[in-house]
Amino acid sequence: MRLAVIPGDGIGPEVVAEGLKVLREVAPDLETTPYDLGAARWQQTGELLPDTVLDELRGHDAILLGAIGDPSVPPGILERGLLLRLRFELDHHVNLRPARLYDGVRSPLAAEGPIDMLCVREGTEGPYVGNGGVLRKDTPQEIATEVSLNTAFGVERVVRYGFERAVTRPRKHLTLIHKTNVLTHAGGLWSRIVEEVSAEFPDVQVAYQHVDAASMFFITDPGRYDVIVTDNLFGDIVTDIAAAVTGGIGLAASGNLDASGTNPSMFEPVHGSAPDIAGQGIADPTATVLSVGLLLDHLGRTEQAKKVNAAVAFDLSTRDPQQQIRTTQVGDRLAALA
Ligand code: NAI
Ligand code: MG
Repeated sequence: MRLAVIPGDGIGPEVVAEGLKVLREVAPDLETTPYDLGAARWQQTGELLPDTVLDELRGHDAILLGAIGDPSVPPGILERGLLLRLRFELDHHVNLRPARLYDGVRSPLAAEGPIDMLCVREGTEGPYVGNGGVLRKDTPQEIATEVSLNTAFGVERVVRYGFERAVTRPRKHLTLIHKTNVLTHAGGLWSRIVEEVSAEFPDVQVAYQHVDAASMFFITDPGRYDVIVTDNLFGDIVTDIAAAVTGGIGLAASGNLDASGTNPSMFEPVHGSAPDIAGQGIADPTATVLSVGLLLDHLGRTEQAKKVNAAVAFDLSTRDPQQQIRTTQVGDRLAALA
């Protein structure tokens, strides 16, 4: 397995080291190439994602990313020039974010029940494409546009991916989340495509909710969800709610997938570089380790993925919630269990 590794900034390198510790344990054939990208490189050289690096990344089976970001960099530079550029260049059209409440993990919700959802967020379209502009900047007449782009091709492939996942899960249930009553143009396209693709998956039960109602149900009744399919912006927001109700940012894993397999997919914890705790050795590496599980699963290494997930599930069920996390200790335990 040829893995490109982008540790990044802040706690990124700390959690990635532990992710690799666990990965090496289950996949001894691992070969890693480290890439120095992020705030530090931009500060020193002005470089974000050189074309030569992008070409090299394409030659790997997958990418593991820690986190990118530093308070010293103006907003938008790293997000657009590095993170979003990777997503668009490598056609990461599926942003996969599972949210499961593990035994032993406390949810902030009063009523705790099983929560096990798989959010499939569109990754390369919607309002995140940078289709917009500003006129009369810094005047009282300033105009700003941010156009949401939705193509039949782009929607169909992510909806299809959602159905393909739903049909393999015990509940075989898929919920489309959108705002079709107000965003009628994009919403109509999404609804029609879900209906069309659902005809090919008669075993999958389909539901629909407006994003505002869904935001409520994520908190009052998250157990109702299995697979969720949604657009880029709605997905960004509702997956943070899903992460919050299943134990928080230290456990939230994600994959940015080119489901066609043409380009390497990229796996990363949902959290950022956490400058407030960077360098202290107290970041929870579990989200990164769960992202390694997604990576193995994506590469068809199902047994290795199961080992990683079982190690995390066992560790979480036996953790002392009063005890301060030490990054390397969690990694050592997970590597020993895997
Ligand atoms: P953040 O996720 O870095 O931190 C939010 C809070 O969660 C902080 O209090 C932090 O200490 C805590 N936290 C995060 N990860 C943790 C972990 N593994 N264990 C324990 N606690 C953890 O989000 P924030 O503060 O909004 O952003 C910090 C920087 O990260 C910014 O520059 C932002 O742009 C960047 N960022 C990068 C992302 C990426 O690389 N994909 C995603 C989100 C933010
Ligand atoms: Mg987000």
